[in-house]
Amino acid sequence: MNFELKALDLSAASLDKCEALLLLFGAGFKPGKDPVSALLAEALKAGDIDTKPGKNLFLYRPNGVAASRLVLAGVGEGSARDMRQAVTGAMALLKSAKIKKLHVYVAMIPSGAGLRAIVQAVADASYVYTSTKSEPEGRHLQRLVVGLPALGKLHSVFDRAVATVAGIELAKEWANRPANHATPSLLAGAARALVKLGGIRCEVLGPNQVAGLGMGSFMAVAQGSDEPLRFIVLRYDGAAKSKAPTVLVGKGITFDSGGISIKPAPEMDEMKFDMSGAASVLGVFRALAELKPAINVVGLIPSCENLINGRAVKPGDVVTSMSGQTIEILNTDAEGRLVLCDALTYAERFKPRAVVDIATLTGACVIALGAVRSGMFSPSDELATALLAAGDASQDLCWRMPLDDEYAEGLKTNFADVANVAGRPGGSITAAKFLQRFADKFPWAHLDIAGTAWKSGAAKGATGRPVALLLEYLLSTIPAK
Ligand code: BES
Ligand code: MN
Ligand code: ZN
Repeated sequence: MNFELKALDLSAASLDKCEALLLLFGAGFKPGKDPVSALLAEALKAGDIDTKPGKNLFLYRPNGVAASRLVLAGVGEGSARDMRQAVTGAMALLKSAKIKKLHVYVAMIPSGAGLRAIVQAVADASYVYTSTKSEPEGRHLQRLVVGLPALGKLHSVFDRAVATVAGIELAKEWANRPANHATPSLLAGAARALVKLGGIRCEVLGPNQVAGLGMGSFMAVAQGSDEPLRFIVLRYDGAAKSKAPTVLVGKGITFDSGGISIKPAPEMDEMKFDMSGAASVLGVFRALAELKPAINVVGLIPSCENLINGRAVKPGDVVTSMSGQTIEILNTDAEGRLVLCDALTYAERFKPRAVVDIATLTGACVIALGAVRSGMFSPSDELATALLAAGDASQDLCWRMPLDDEYAEGLKTNFADVANVAGRPGGSITAAKFLQRFADKFPWAHLDIAGTAWKSGAAKGATGRPVALLLEYLLSTIPAK
């Protein structure tokens, strides 16, 4: 898709010949002398539309307006949330028209977060997955033109939104691909392909190198599959070498059958999305390549399948992680933490300023927070506050969960340093407590995206979350000039 931002007033927007014009207006809207204003003023008076988001009005070939379709949508105070809600509702009205070029006119000077929300909501609503269709219809929308009364500094905000969209769409693409089209090796290929964009380095380790590093926990998960594991290391260096990097660790289980502790058949196909954390890391790097911010970022992706063969790891097996800690694998379906723990230990070598892992880790997190907010765990108030704020600003929300040491009680075992599961209560927290044992050398946060990374049902598909949150967070770490 192609994006343009321009300064425009409402009378010029009324004369703009286009397939569709979406007018976003706020509580402070002052009608001018143009035809769109006249229509809107009447509709407001009649109560067919409101300045609050939620009620949208579709008009076909309205008098005096050059656009074939006009959608009026209130955005209230113009917060990022209001903008997103209004655009999502309006896009639903325009869906059947298969529009190629959309003009959005914002009748106010939006906040940066508000403008980003508009661009991301249009992109989100128009995205279409095509990779494994033989005759894909594809995305209809090719071009988005956003008009504003004045641009000010919003150009750079717009560029950031466009780069974020590119990152989100790369993440969606890889998360959506079926597991036979997104093996660990193919995922490594996607990471390598990012190098061409410039500013990014990529190194891919295979089974021998991972064995050499002593990643016994990661290897235990991978050993039940014929598909070889990959450990992907991405680097983006936009700042001086002396600047400590932020490390992102993405869970890259390309398919999670549960292993010997096998999952039930219904919805098991959705476990192709179990590499959504990895996909979000790829998406962030895609955006970094475009934005070239003055920060250093490392991306780590432990990737393998969690399958079942004659060599598969068994409940009760004890393995030695790279950290030296031994782990009793009581449930082979708690594999995410087993691949992440070795990646966390690997992260130590970068002397990071912070490490954030991103994982579709627990069904318990879906029960706790549903599809609205990702679970966020961190012993650092500073890091937690920054991530929470980044979630709000990007409308890619998260919620802080507790890490009291009492939650780790259930991980005790007679046969190893730690067990990989505790009981069912507080399952997302006990998983985080397991990871915390491997993250004591740096400020650390864990994002459980099991509920937010994809949608089930008729709209089944990846969401691209939490690419927007992570980017917002990373860019917020740049010191102000
Ligand atoms: N990938 C799953 C988590 C998951 C489940 C994500 C459902 C999205 C929807 C993870 O590997 C897993 O299987 N976790 C287990 C842990 C349990 C065995 C302690 C779970 O949540 O059931
Ligand atoms: Mn599992
Ligand atoms: Zn899993």
